[in-house]
Amino acid sequence: MIRKVFAATAVCIAALGCSPKQDGPAAEAEQGLEYCARQTERTLAQILPAGYGMSPKNIAPGDSAWNLYPVSKELWTEGFFPGILWYDYEYTSDEKIRKAAEKYTEALEFISRIPAYDHDLGFIMFCSYGNGYRLTGNEKYKEIILATADRLASLYNPAVGTILSWPREVGNFGGHNTIMDNLINLEMLFWAAENGGDPKYAEIARSHADTTMKYNFRPDGTSYHVAVYDPETGRHIRSCTHQGYSDNSMWARGQAWGIYGYTMCYRFTYDRKYLDFACRIADVYLSKLPEDLIPYWDFNDPAIPDAPRDASAAAVVASALIELSGYAEGEKGEGYLTTARKILASLYGNYRGGDACPAFLLHSTGHHPAGSEIDYAIIYADYYYIEALMRLRALGGKE
Ligand code: GLY
Repeated sequence: MIRKVFAATAVCIAALGCSPKQDGPAAEAEQGLEYCARQTERTLAQILPAGYGMSPKNIAPGDSAWNLYPVSKELWTEGFFPGILWYDYEYTSDEKIRKAAEKYTEALEFISRIPAYDHDLGFIMFCSYGNGYRLTGNEKYKEIILATADRLASLYNPAVGTILSWPREVGNFGGHNTIMDNLINLEMLFWAAENGGDPKYAEIARSHADTTMKYNFRPDGTSYHVAVYDPETGRHIRSCTHQGYSDNSMWARGQAWGIYGYTMCYRFTYDRKYLDFACRIADVYLSKLPEDLIPYWDFNDPAIPDAPRDASAAAVVASALIELSGYAEGEKGEGYLTTARKILASLYGNYRGGDACPAFLLHSTGHHPAGSEIDYAIIYADYYYIEALMRLRALGGKE
């Protein structure tokens, strides 16, 4: 992939009331990454005494300490902190951070040995072991990723053409359920197929992406959170929501997973349909954002403008757009990078935890309909924020 030289964007970013450095992508990234490194030190100081088996998940509004949860199959978020540590180690080269990254990663090894219980295996194991393998080449990590990919593939139903996202919810939804978030877990399957795993993992990933494209999206490019299918015949039964405002609304993080997911599918397949689709659903999302580019948790919540935001969706999209900017041609690609930089400037300017809170970002929404994690700092927002900054940094210093 040839990276492009991007047009100046300082004026647009300044219009947001933020003040990123005007020396190009790498300098903007540097400012954010220095901040992340400081916050990571603070987080480690708080959580290390609890041991590597306790995972930071969220911080309530006004609080200054992470809520810790034991790593277990009840959690889907335990891969993000080790992933943050790997990115922070990549940036700082600090051996203390590397040691912590290894320990928090290795606390998740048990996941590769138990039968698949949920689609989130990719989030858990590829953010942690995936980044660890990328940076260290540790063969044991690769084995663990391949074993987990095999577990994840066992949730694939060929009659439907997708992975079952939530085995425990089959009764509640009335069938085989597949959610938008599941797209992210395909990354581990595509990677495994190229790195010694069964080549059929890539076919599963493609089939899942194609079926999701058909049934988790409306003709206008907005997404449904969930699609439900007859597990025997594969017939599509209905599309609906779980974490969004309503069956017909656009849940912000669901759309964000889609933008990120189809961009990633293009990375592995070079199939133009994924690139075109990623652009289409990104354009829909971007066209409906509020002025500061950080979405409300659901684009159709009637409480807008008093509805909570979701900084996590913004971080996911910023990271995705930086990658997408390298694939989309001409001005379109340049526009995605400009927008990603504006989103990151907005997050840094007005959504950061700062001195009051060790999280990188505040103001994310986990599961609004369940009344859970509304306006919280949430660990996955931080993961995609630091990933986006590392991607931005990799573009170099030139405008
Ligand atoms: N994967 C669950 C979520 O995005 O909240």
